[in-house]
Amino acid sequence: MIPAADRAIIVVEPMTKRHLKAVRAIDAKVYPRPWSLAMYLQELANGSNRVYRIVRSAGKVVGYGGLMVVGSDGHVTSVATDPDHRSIGVGSRALLALVRGALDSACEALTLEVRVSNIDAQRMYGRFGFERAGVRKGYYTDNREDAVVMWANDIGGSAFRSRMRDIEASFDHHTEWRSS
Ligand SMILES: CC(C)(COP(=O)(O)OP(=O)(O)OC[C@H]1O[C@@H](n2cnc3c(N)ncnc32)[C@H](O)[C@@H]1OP(=O)(O)O)[C@@H](O)C(=O)NCCC(=O)NCCS
Repeated sequence: MIPAADRAIIVVEPMTKRHLKAVRAIDAKVYPRPWSLAMYLQELANGSNRVYRIVRSAGKVVGYGGLMVVGSDGHVTSVATDPDHRSIGVGSRALLALVRGALDSACEALTLEVRVSNIDAQRMYGRFGFERAGVRKGYYTDNREDAVVMWANDIGGSAFRSRMRDIEASFDHHTEWRSS
């Protein structure tokens, strides 16, 4: 059963400095080594080759995603949902917003690293068409865990776009996609 607050309109919009307190509060719950405020400010200052989006429900920031554009590749830096708002499509909306931003930046492929133990995230990325391409040994410095490297290729192609349309159609309550 979806909590009443989560049945409200969900808003997806660019991340700005005013969101960082809430974003960092989510990070503190879900990441062993969250980014510092300075790292976020640097990412947001990078402007044209970064895509950072937050997801709000009932006015509260409940998730976000970030992406760095490197040539024709979009590198997903993070997608995270407040644990109290999981499994209602917040992470998928954040990732969809990153895909749109990557397409606007003429990216042709997307890539990311994810912990081998992070099965929930790998399943979400799998639904978006990301496939395992390799492993980076001991990539995570906190516990030397391996990273799975995933890629989604040809994101401008009809198969990938049709997959994105299906994911968007699966959202069971209204989403407002804002550009500012
Ligand atoms: C990975 C993560 C971002 C997913 O966030 P989320 O908001 O729960 O993601 P979604 O709701 O879009 O999808 C999760 C599941 O809910 C399901 N779901 C989505 N909307 C739903 C709805 N309205 N009703 C029922 N189920 C729904 C999805 O199908 C998916 O199911 P599956 O995992 O069995 O395939 C979240 O677990 C997280 O923040 N993890 C910690 C941070 C992290 O590890 N990030 C990745 C770093 S690489």
